[in-house]
Amino acid sequence: MKFDIITIFPDILDSYINESILKRAQKSKKIKIQTHDIRKFSKNKHKTVDDTPYGGGPGMVLMVEPIYKCLKSIKKKRKSKIILLDPAGKQFNQKMAQRYANLDQLIFICGRYEGVDARVDKLINEKVSIGPYVLSGGELGAAVITEAVARLVPGVLGSAESLQYETFSGKKADVIEYPQYTRPENFKGQKVPKILLSGNHKEIEGWRKNN
Ligand code: ADE
Repeated sequence: MKFDIITIFPDILDSYINESILKRAQKSKKIKIQTHDIRKFSKNKHKTVDDTPYGGGPGMVLMVEPIYKCLKSIKKKRKSKIILLDPAGKQFNQKMAQRYANLDQLIFICGRYEGVDARVDKLINEKVSIGPYVLSGGELGAAVITEAVARLVPGVLGSAESLQYETFSGKKADVIEYPQYTRPENFKGQKVPKILLSGNHKEIEGWRKNN
């Protein structure tokens, strides 16, 4: 699956997407994540991509033209969706992550909180928010959605990680809901439940269902 992220801050994302699970998944070619710097598509020599709003008002507005050109430069796959990160968009959840994971490509446009030219609406499929709060831009949202979706792409999680889900619940769960412990057995008087040290997998499974 391909993820394309259109942003004025590619460096913020490049460091996050090239570590840990996302790094490994890209190395094994299960996914590919590419950032695209909107400034490269600016037509003026100062590489500006925003301007003051028509009609007046505070702040700057991201221009439609560099976004349009950037989108045109991205090779489209068969099943793709273009998402604008926007605090007023539909709130992202695990069900949406599952739906997105069936696509071949997600293209994100990271808006700035001050605004994006309204004509960008004609270029996108959905506006999505990652929560009921306002961030300075869509970059963190694009990273959150990319990670949540990438985890659902077959082969992205190692066999240890995905097997874990199956053996304990009998069906694939989205999250581990029981308390987990690792060394030491005793941390300042707080002890690991004895049953987890027993080696009795049936009893451990039962304990986990009830905790
Ligand atoms: N941009 C600013 N705030 C946002 C949010 N909560 N979700 C997605 N994009 C945003």
